[in-house]
Amino acid sequence: MTPEQQSHKTRALCELAPVIPVLVVGDAGCAQGLATALVSGGLPVLEVTLRTPAALDVIRAMAQVPGGHVGAGTVLTPDDAKRARDAGASFAVSPGLTERLARACEDIGLPLLPGAATASEVMRAMELGYSMLKFFPAEAAGGAKSLRSLAGPLPQASFCPTGGVTLQNAPDYLALPNVVCVGGSWIAPDADVAAGDWAAIRGRAHAAAALR
Ligand code: 3PG
Repeated sequence: MTPEQQSHKTRALCELAPVIPVLVVGDAGCAQGLATALVSGGLPVLEVTLRTPAALDVIRAMAQVPGGHVGAGTVLTPDDAKRARDAGASFAVSPGLTERLARACEDIGLPLLPGAATASEVMRAMELGYSMLKFFPAEAAGGAKSLRSLAGPLPQASFCPTGGVTLQNAPDYLALPNVVCVGGSWIAPDADVAAGDWAAIRGRAHAAAALR
């Protein structure tokens, strides 16, 4: 799958809802309940970060939830991409981009949403064929103001800003011409996941889904 095809696919996923919940889940036993709460709350596209030993099992379990599209986040290496694809991830998200990672995703047919934060990083990603990018770390890299500035010289690039995005500042990003959706962990905080408070998470998903 060429980078152009990958971006076509990730763009279509990003268009499904205004927010992609970024999930750090330590217990695969939570996966089905959590994914069901998010999907039924109106957020069908989920990013499970590869930051816990349970992450691949979480992806495996969430991939069974009807109506969901489960991707792997924090994909840094070709091996991460292969393990994510084998666990059933339908896309991968990375905080950055390397040629090795791009080549691996091309080889295994896994759509990649690569990260970029500067004009040079965006230009390099576009040179490799990617036009749908994660703007990371969004708030620390200048927030909506910075991303708006990239729209002028680089209108071909579209973004999912992630990193410091909240229910309060998400509308600033979503109003930009180069933003398709945002990503964030605020929808499913650790405490609610650990407590299995799916009603609270579903409520937050619902509010996020109404952002657009
Ligand atoms: C991440 O990879 O951790 C995401 O950027 C989420 O950032 P957030 O916790 O600030 O939403």
